[in-house]
Amino acid sequence: MVMKLCLLFFILASSQAARYIPKNLWFGTATASYQIEGAWNESGKGENIWDKFLHDANRDQNGDVTCDSYHKWQEDIENLKKLNVNHYRFSISWPRILPDGTLKSINQEGIDYYYNLIQGLIEAGIEPMVTLYHWDMPVHISELGGFLNPQFIDYFEDYARLVYQEYGPYVRYWLTFNEPYSICNGGYGAGQTAPGLNLIGDGIYQCSYVLLKAHARGYRIYDEEFRPKYNGKVGIVLNINWFEPASNTTADSDARERLLQFQLGWWANPVFNGNWPQIMIDRIANRSSREGFARSRLPQFTQEEIDYINGTHDFFALNTYKTYVAENTEYNITDPSYWFDVGVTWTNLTYYPEGFRKLINFVNDRYRPESIIITENGLQTTDYLNDTDRITYIKGYINSLLDAIEEDKINVFGYTVWSLMDNFEWGSYDSRFGLINVNFTDSNRTRTWKDSGYWFKNILETRILDV
Ligand code: NOJ
Repeated sequence: MVMKLCLLFFILASSQAARYIPKNLWFGTATASYQIEGAWNESGKGENIWDKFLHDANRDQNGDVTCDSYHKWQEDIENLKKLNVNHYRFSISWPRILPDGTLKSINQEGIDYYYNLIQGLIEAGIEPMVTLYHWDMPVHISELGGFLNPQFIDYFEDYARLVYQEYGPYVRYWLTFNEPYSICNGGYGAGQTAPGLNLIGDGIYQCSYVLLKAHARGYRIYDEEFRPKYNGKVGIVLNINWFEPASNTTADSDARERLLQFQLGWWANPVFNGNWPQIMIDRIANRSSREGFARSRLPQFTQEEIDYINGTHDFFALNTYKTYVAENTEYNITDPSYWFDVGVTWTNLTYYPEGFRKLINFVNDRYRPESIIITENGLQTTDYLNDTDRITYIKGYINSLLDAIEEDKINVFGYTVWSLMDNFEWGSYDSRFGLINVNFTDSNRTRTWKDSGYWFKNILETRILDV
């Protein structure tokens, strides 16, 4: 207490404003299995679509070893403990526990790995927050069609039930899918990410149709079979950046709204309000018929499906990084395409943390969630330890978050930095987000704290933000 007062006095004396952080706001960090674990073919793990995607392309950078957290998880927990985080968000690698993705083969070593990690976190006083699917699908499931095959929903159910059975007694916060927008857009639309399918006109929508039903199944089985015993919470992680319209014309403000609906509403509307956003139905169904398709490229939900998906949330989990400027654009392309459907282009606004507060307000107004947790936010840089820009960035975002909580009275219960440490950014080690540096050329994968790590630790301990 005395320390705290001294610090507050020091901050005030150095003419900066100090802001108290509410005690009940959780702080944590996030990672994902493929990005940190390595051990890609060890201890019975099956191949995932990222292993295959990058090996097939002969890429010299891949997740084969990455941070080697499969072996260094105890050191990671030590760092989390030193940071003083409340929670740690990580993901389970589906093929590490089910090598071919199905219940035919259960890999006990994989199950034990996550059991030990979860127990280690709990012993360290850290709340485990578990993502079931952060992009590393078993290759076998992808070969069956992945998100293009409705059977995916049954395989995901088997996997999710096994995970709930194993870890349900210890985990209170579950996340089904991480960033469905990135999954379907990158992997089934533009084809830039695994499994690399370029189906931007229709596969992208089929992917979303199956994924949303798989999410709902994952939520419903928890709700029916596990919630009565363990009383945990389940959500889906949605990602969106904030957009400002390029001008005050109706065309640009409509474009901004369209973009928000095509990126966030696409998922949030079925889960929180029921069915696709009307603007997507209008623009895709109508366009499909103009283009001479017998059916809309956007699959139509039955009423039963709408009801099954609607309400499958216990909180709103949001990943967000930046603010962009959105401009109405009539693309001059004739092939059916998601981009043609959206009809917007956007450019990056360099630094605008106020966009964060606006986005939180947007989410709260449109979807009326029970509560909101920020499951990812952070800054990408190249490799250096004196990362003042990351400190400035996170400080600005937390400040904006406090505005949303204190002034707008929005119930945000947590903020999670991406990422605990530098890791494999889906194709490159040059793009780094960590509070802790990892030396990827040294076989020990040495971790070194950056200035932002020390700064974040200080914020968590003092609960004071100097702005
Ligand atoms: C989105 C993803 O969830 C995560 O895997 C990625 O590394 C970060 N954001 C940064 O791009």
